[in-house]
Amino acid sequence: MKKSIRFAKISAIGSYVPEKILTNDDLSKMIDTSDEWIQARTGIRERRIAADGQITSDLCVEAARAAIKKAGISAEDVDLILVGTITSDMPFPSTAVFVQSKLGLQNIPCFDYNVACSGTQYGIALANALLTSSDSYKNILLICGDKMTSVVDWNDRATCVLLGDGAGAAIFSATEKEEENSVIDVLLGADGKLWELLHVPAGGSSEPASVKTIEDGKHFFKMKGRDVFREAIRIMEGCAREILQRNGMTVADIDFVVLHQANLRIIEALQERLKIPDEKVCITVDKYGNTSGSSCLIAIDTFARSGRIRSGSKILSVGFGAGLTWGAAILKF
Ligand SMILES: CC(C)(COP(=O)(O)OP(=O)(O)OC[C@H]1O[C@@H](n2cnc3c(N)ncnc32)[C@H](O)[C@@H]1OP(=O)(O)O)[C@@H](O)C(=O)NCCC(=O)NCCS
Repeated sequence: MKKSIRFAKISAIGSYVPEKILTNDDLSKMIDTSDEWIQARTGIRERRIAADGQITSDLCVEAARAAIKKAGISAEDVDLILVGTITSDMPFPSTAVFVQSKLGLQNIPCFDYNVACSGTQYGIALANALLTSSDSYKNILLICGDKMTSVVDWNDRATCVLLGDGAGAAIFSATEKEEENSVIDVLLGADGKLWELLHVPAGGSSEPASVKTIEDGKHFFKMKGRDVFREAIRIMEGCAREILQRNGMTVADIDFVVLHQANLRIIEALQERLKIPDEKVCITVDKYGNTSGSSCLIAIDTFARSGRIRSGSKILSVGFGAGLTWGAAILKF
């Protein structure tokens, strides 16, 4: 395998959320909840819901097209597709192969990875490693996409108010110019002992789908909300501190902090602990709820489109999700 000195440049980021909006007031007509409760506990005002028949690969393709267009390349220039998802179109094959064919591509390698809400950070690590470790790829398409409403129990008010559908994508392009390098550092971690905090019990090899698993609602997203809340703050704080410290940086060296968009209270707690001023924090959880692994890519794209994140901006992004998994990345645009 030939190897020249290469760096990974993020040429573009794109995102997609479905048109249909489900507000807190809409939810309060379906279950025993209220706009006041949801906003006070989560900061979420509304979320996006996929249209009938719109599946995870469709969300991913929309985000991919936006990133490809912004990068000024054509789909044919992409030579590897990575999809971070926990709501794949089918148990197998991967969602990435459906994305490949919907983009009109063939033969290029494609695979999924499953790390839930840390999808952006794990995806950055994967794309960066693949691009810089060989000369095989010029443009890697990273997509994180989930149709979380496909695993939502609309009768469970403790979880259904939190989630939304969406996808984010990024084009990682190989460059030999170190000054164009976008990935300053990535840190990843996981603790499988805590798997029970967030999971879908049935539909896998441990409990294949059956009439009984459906009757018992075991195909739905389950969460121990209070434990997740506590662990999210503890782990993301640790991650952020560690990656900043090992790069000799502080929050003052960072222009924008993009934390996993699960709950505004979690973001505010981290802001307080890490002393991050309001103007450095990107928030989209109010509009989109928790879109799983895509949430950080969607937030970066939203703030880039508003003109706040610009060329040269340094971003610290921290994610946390089912597994438990976590990750942090420092990027330069
Ligand atoms: C889910 C979460 C918002 C719940 O907030 P909380 O303050 O912990 O609330 P609790 O679960 O203790 O529930 C408190 C009460 O509110 C009720 N409640 C739960 N959801 C409700 C809703 N949507 N509307 C109204 N009441 C609700 C509970 O039934 C409970 O009532 P009770 O006291 O009569 O039993 C919070 O735990 C959380 O955000 N956890 C992290 C979730 C997350 O980030 N998940 C994704 C990680 S990637």
